[in-house]
Amino acid sequence: MINLAILISGRGSNMEAILKSIKKNRIPVNPSVVISNKADARGIKIAQKLGVKTEVLESQGIKGPSWDYDKKIVSVLEKYDVTPKNGLVCLAGFMRIMSPEFIRYFKTRIMNIHPAILPSFPGLHSQKQAVEYGVKYSGCTVHFADEGVDTGPIIIQAVVKVKDDDTEETLAKRILSKEHKIYPEAVKLFAQGRIKTVGRKAIIS
Ligand code: GRF
Repeated sequence: MINLAILISGRGSNMEAILKSIKKNRIPVNPSVVISNKADARGIKIAQKLGVKTEVLESQGIKGPSWDYDKKIVSVLEKYDVTPKNGLVCLAGFMRIMSPEFIRYFKTRIMNIHPAILPSFPGLHSQKQAVEYGVKYSGCTVHFADEGVDTGPIIIQAVVKVKDDDTEETLAKRILSKEHKIYPEAVKLFAQGRIKTVGRKAIIS
């Protein structure tokens, strides 16, 4: 079975959706550890309530990608037996960019969720960007992480209609409810060994 680590920085609602799916036996993975880079992340308490081990690795003051910091993550992952052979790392609102060394270490075993239909609106404040641009549809994307920002092979996307009177907040809320469906689904596909990556394409069987 795959050993799963989830990395968070705050609210942790995607983490919660994944952990709840696992508890309902919908995803055949071991929820090994939740790691937060912030001690006050709300998601930590949620993980603990769900009986999952948590670790905090403060990253305050460490700006930009840092292999030195990511090595600490690797140590925690090793402690919980989440390895490039048997592991999956889910970035779920983890507000740091992983170093190229970390990405190379874990290869195609790191997933991320982004609140837009990539490659549109990468980076921060995607829902605001979508509202301001005036797109008619937006949504969310689960993808493998690569060395770019929000650029790796796309696993699943879900679309939501953008209303004329949407604000960043109302759009974010509708997108988030789709995120909570597609992220557990992507983890399940991975756990079932149904995702094959060929170049830029993540092919689902
Ligand atoms: C989500 O919108 C996710 O797409 C983005 O950050 C937000 C995290 O929310 N990467 P949560 O912590 O999972 O509630």
